[in-house]
Amino acid sequence: MFGKKDTNLTPETVTKLLEKVIDPELEKDLVSAGMVKDVQIDSGRIRIGLELPTPAWEPKALLEQEVRRVVGKEAGDRKIELAFGSNVRVSRPGQSAGQNLVPGARNLILFASGKGGVGKSTVATNVAAALANLGANVGLLDADIYGPSIPTMLGTHEKPEVSGQKLIPVNRYGMKLMSIGFIVDPKEAMTWRGPMLNGALIQFMRDVEWGDLDYLVLDLPPGTGDVQLTIAQNVKVSGAVLVSTPQDVALADVTRGKAMFDKVDIPILGVVENMAHFVCTSCSAKHHIFGKGGATRLAKELQLPLLAEVPLEVSTRESADAGRPEVLANPNSGASQAFFGLAKKVATMLAKKAAAGGIKASGGLKIIQ
Ligand SMILES: Nc1ncnc2c1ncn2[C@@H]1O[C@H](COP(=O)(O)OP(=O)(O)O)[C@@H](O)[C@H]1O
Ligand SMILES: [Mg+2]
Repeated sequence: MFGKKDTNLTPETVTKLLEKVIDPELEKDLVSAGMVKDVQIDSGRIRIGLELPTPAWEPKALLEQEVRRVVGKEAGDRKIELAFGSNVRVSRPGQSAGQNLVPGARNLILFASGKGGVGKSTVATNVAAALANLGANVGLLDADIYGPSIPTMLGTHEKPEVSGQKLIPVNRYGMKLMSIGFIVDPKEAMTWRGPMLNGALIQFMRDVEWGDLDYLVLDLPPGTGDVQLTIAQNVKVSGAVLVSTPQDVALADVTRGKAMFDKVDIPILGVVENMAHFVCTSCSAKHHIFGKGGATRLAKELQLPLLAEVPLEVSTRESADAGRPEVLANPNSGASQAFFGLAKKVATMLAKKAAAGGIKASGGLKIIQ
């Protein structure tokens, strides 16, 4: 009815058609990119199995649309069924012997800022929850030993169990979590000295049963101090995301943050402008409470990509306080759209980096849909 009826369609001819669909990120057709894993045809259906480099692959929706369009022209009355799987690769090459804590994490992403209160924890928890929601295997580590936010923002104060020498992470919203706030009263951790603090962080990386993770997200304390150095010395990081609000004072700290990460050889993925604007609920006008476009200008100056502009929204703050990330509580809000976009952008950047390095994933294909 819609396309030309072709009763002679074979898996080979369908595969030929898939050579016409180009992945815009890899700049290759689906067959050359190795994404086509399965083609089956019967009288009523064409089934196509595609393997993506990450379940959060930015062009996923576009690829689906293109496959349906190109194959649809020849499919006759057959229904097209698409199944997506993913095989997330390791983007942490060159792990030296001293940097091999959390070896099971294929990607390790830091969320950092020069200053507190800019929304680092909010962005980190929402990106982690977005990645998990899209089908990835995610761990979230609260590296802010003095000011842990994860127990509140994820709504759990469950004590992690111990198995042998290992701590079992707390499971919440399909993610594995660890925070000092699960173990001691935060007031007690406040009195700790530097070495104890570093010791706790190393334990959270080395002695937690993280298992095989597609992404381990680290929510860092503000500033450019000990914790950042401990991380740089003990784990190989895929990249850091710098979070800022648009004011000049916050932006000056981003410059400092970049200098620090450059010094310890941690690649910076880009800048996120949080609380970029407020959309008036009665008149829908955008108000730039903290100034306009500051992070955009700074990103340009520092030659870093601006990864997302997250609006200031009452619901985002309410969700954080209620212990349910905004991307799960209100997936269609403006902030959630920005968080999902950010999660996909970061995952896609890392997947491209891994593909360029030709590093093989340790595990097999995982079916996500
Ligand atoms: N985009 C946003 N809209 C509304 N409130 C936000 C937003 N981002 C962060 N907040 C709120 O701002 C406060 C500080 O955020 P937090 O993530 O704890 O910052 P940091 O980790 O950088 O110290 C929290 O109460 C949080 O709920
Ligand atoms: Mg925080």
